[in-house]
Amino acid sequence: QSNPLILGIESSCDETGVGLVRGTQLLTNTVSSSMDEHVRFGGVIPEIASRAHLDAFVPTLAQALADAGVTLGDVDAIAVTSGPGLAGALMVGVSAAKALALATGKPLYAINHLVAHVGVGLLDESIAAQTVALDATAGALPPNLGALLVSGGHTEILRVRSIASDVELLGATIDDAAGEAFDKVARILGLGYPGGPAIDALAREGNAKAIRFPRGLTAPKYMGTTEAPGPHRYDFSFSGLKTAVARSVESYEARGEEIPVADVAASFQEAVLDVITAKAVLACKEQGMTTLLLGGGVAANSRLRELASQRASTAGITLLVPKLSLCTDNGAMVAALGAQLVMNGVAPSDLAFAPDSSMP
Ligand code: KG4
Ligand code: ZN
Repeated sequence: QSNPLILGIESSCDETGVGLVRGTQLLTNTVSSSMDEHVRFGGVIPEIASRAHLDAFVPTLAQALADAGVTLGDVDAIAVTSGPGLAGALMVGVSAAKALALATGKPLYAINHLVAHVGVGLLDESIAAQTVALDATAGALPPNLGALLVSGGHTEILRVRSIASDVELLGATIDDAAGEAFDKVARILGLGYPGGPAIDALAREGNAKAIRFPRGLTAPKYMGTTEAPGPHRYDFSFSGLKTAVARSVESYEARGEEIPVADVAASFQEAVLDVITAKAVLACKEQGMTTLLLGGGVAANSRLRELASQRASTAGITLLVPKLSLCTDNGAMVAALGAQLVMNGVAPSDLAFAPDSSMP
């Protein structure tokens, strides 16, 4: 089916998202976040997140339908995040989606949240960098597509042969995710939670060359050569970097000096982004991927968008970047992937599926 109208539901963490997409066209993206309720705990509390989804779901759905000017009856299929994420939070969205599917008789698609972070990059609106020729309404992908997925839980380089059925993992973090590193370092610097946006803003006032922090898994023994790739050529590690930031802060304190917070933030951020952009571009060059799609919450980072676009353009790689509001968790990304599945003729899910909090 071309140009199906898809309702997407997201509830894997603290965002209750409902989005509507027609084919590759974004109609609306309504998000209600319970972040304010988690801030004082310094992280998302699963029980609070689940209750907040219950409170927010019906109003968020009503708002999304009203904004798009459509009714549930107009929808061709419903898509819902079924994992990975917080088990209780996922259950709220999945139960709501099943109830809607049962009541309306519409087909339901269980969606992998991580693939949805990639699929959202295929929406017309989200192609921000260069234009690529793609017949997206027919469910076609840009040829030789790679993706860099950077979120609070994952940091991965992917090869996307089919968004519906063939997403291959080329490399991933062996410890902390990039977003997790931002959050932990923000905590060390006393910047609050979530840390990514705070570090992004503060780093603009700092000197990224002030402190040379370690670039994880970039030593020759890990990288190998083009002929013989090392064991972690496309992998990442950020826990050593986080420790290095903590040591650096301690040493300022021990000397009784004021901590140059903006310089530390900028230098830390540069260390993370230097490695992820360099390795993603390297993987593209070596694996014949000519388009690189950025996805996940960290893809909202302004310096990442700048550095990735510089390095991709130097390497002759087309960069696809979702618009800011589509990088962090939302329902439109779930609808966008649902639309791709429908357009690719994928069968809907059996309504008996259960959410899978550790879905790969
Ligand atoms: O994709 P997402 O919304 O949720 C997960 O699926 O994890 O990503 C959230 C992560 C958090 O770690 C947050 O600190 C990070 O994305 N993040 C950022 C920025 N905005 C959000 N990291 C760096 N710079 C940003 N501007
Ligand atoms: Zn996410």
